[in-house]
Amino acid sequence: MLNQEVAKLLNEQINKEFYSAYLYMDMANYYADQNLNGFENWFFIQMQEERDHALLFRQYLLNNGEPVVLSEISAPEAIYTNFREPLVEALKHEQFVTASINKIYEAAYIIKDFRTMQFLDWFVKEQGEEEKNADDNIKKFDLFAGDPKGLYMLDNELKARVYTAPSLVL
Ligand code: FEO
Repeated sequence: MLNQEVAKLLNEQINKEFYSAYLYMDMANYYADQNLNGFENWFFIQMQEERDHALLFRQYLLNNGEPVVLSEISAPEAIYTNFREPLVEALKHEQFVTASINKIYEAAYIIKDFRTMQFLDWFVKEQGEEEKNADDNIKKFDLFAGDPKGLYMLDNELKARVYTAPSLVL
C-alpha cells in the first residue's frame, strides 16, 4: 500500500506520460508530412520512450498493490507553422513533466516514502537528460538549419537515433 495522495499523483503521471507520447507522435506526424524523416524518427522514438515511462508508473503501482486508474488522454492541439516550433514546445513540455515528477517526489519526501523516492530517482535523472536533449535540438537547429543543406544534414543526424528500452526494470 502507498499513501493515497502519492498513489493519486502516480496515477496522474501515467496520463501525463501517455499525453507526452501523443504529443510527440503528433510532432512526428508533422515532420513526416514535411518530408523531414530524421526529425520524424527522433520524435517517433521519443513517443516510444514516453509510452515506456507510462508503463513503468503502471508497474510500480501494481507492484505496490495499488489500483491503476486510467483517465482520458487529451488530443494535442498545436498547429505548427515552422520546423522550429515543435522543438521549442518539446522543451517546454519536458520542463512541465520535470515539475510534475518533482511534485510527486516532494509528496513522497514529506511522508518519508523512501521506496517511491528511490523509484522516482530514475525519472529525476531521465528528466535532466530529456531537457538537455530537447535544448540541444533547438541549439543545433539554430546553428545548422539556416539553409536547406544544413537542414538536410541535421535531418540525417536525427535519422540515426535508435530506440533503446528504458534502463529501469521493475
Ligand atoms: Fe516521460 Fe519526457 O518525460
